Amino acid sequence: MPRVVVFDETGGPDVLRVVDEPVVEPAAGEVRVRIEAFAVNPLDQMVRAGQSPRPVPLPHARLGVEGTGVIDALGSGVTGLAVGDPVILGAIPDFETRGAYAEYTVLPADRVVPRPAGLEPVAAAALWVSYFTAYGALVDRAGMRPGDQVLITAASGGVGRAAIQIANQIGAVPIAVTRQSAKVESLLAAGAAAVIATDREDIGEATRRHTGGVGADIILDAVMGPGLAELSLAAKLGGTLATVGWLDPRPASFPANPSLTIYRYMSFADMVDPVTARRVAAFLAAGVRTGVLQPMVDRVFTLNDIVEAHRYLEKGTATGKIVVTP
Ligand SMILES: NC(=O)c1ccc[n+]([C@@H]2O[C@H](COP(=O)([O-])OP(=O)(O)OC[C@H]3O[C@@H](n4cnc5c(N)ncnc54)[C@H](OP(=O)(O)O)[C@@H]3O)[C@@H](O)[C@H]2O)c1
Repeated sequence: MPRVVVFDETGGPDVLRVVDEPVVEPAAGEVRVRIEAFAVNPLDQMVRAGQSPRPVPLPHARLGVEGTGVIDALGSGVTGLAVGDPVILGAIPDFETRGAYAEYTVLPADRVVPRPAGLEPVAAAALWVSYFTAYGALVDRAGMRPGDQVLITAASGGVGRAAIQIANQIGAVPIAVTRQSAKVESLLAAGAAAVIATDREDIGEATRRHTGGVGADIILDAVMGPGLAELSLAAKLGGTLATVGWLDPRPASFPANPSLTIYRYMSFADMVDPVTARRVAAFLAAGVRTGVLQPMVDRVFTLNDIVEAHRYLEKGTATGKIVVTP
């Protein structure tokens, strides 16, 4: 019988367990996907640990907001898709019941998008949430244009690396931020035009140096916390700050730059819109086709090692995505 990861109580990685469950038949308008790979995200860790932004229905909750596989069965009325089509699971806001941590899941047909040609399942599992978030925050909200100087915090992470590549695809100038000077070379190799290592330099002073004294046109921030006030001063007069994450759980300080336009970007709201999802999927497929977008995978686990995968995520040492294959 197919396997699925469930948890009956919130807590550490050990609450996750693999159980056998029969496949569910897709209802009208739904598709069943045989999952080939899924990614482990910081949100999964929060939900599992009981820090979900919304209540999780326990027991027997599922996890996993992104993955990839092939269409395995079609519900009645589904058009434009066929059994065997390779797809990406484009939006799983109801991950507690349809989560990607499984061998099969059932979704509304308009929540899958075509898998870009030439992208293997492991790389495809690392694409959607990170690249959609970086694209949505930088392009759709902040209006990133060619030539913009874009400061990217947590640049070593999934969203950060996606942002570097998307800035390059658009013709903007990505300036990566890391807390560790040991990561400078790998971020330059990942396409950053410049790297600021905050363990040895001041973020505001270094940004002005890299931008001819002007400051960043756009800041993409996945950290928040008390550093937000100082970070905001690295933007130019009239610049834009788009926040996507909260890697620093301490209370965020208010931006100290009064001329900033600030967006708080949540990708789920856009992912569930099929028109937006198709448009972003087309942009990402173009980037994969030209080779500018290359999802970086740090490590691959098997489904039976899901507890180990979460322990590894919690270490915080990954550079790129953690992916699981059934
Ligand atoms: N808004 C949305 O729709 C959306 C979508 C996806 C993700 N997110 C959120 O965005 C954030 C980033 O996600 P991700 O998948 O890119 O994470 P990730 O891959 O786990 O990012 C890890 C990187 O972030 C840096 N980092 C970790 N903790 C930090 C801290 N306390 N202060 C500063 N830097 C820190 C580290 O880089 P260095 O060691 O090099 O500094 C680390 O390599 C998370 O909070 C996630 O929940 C939001």
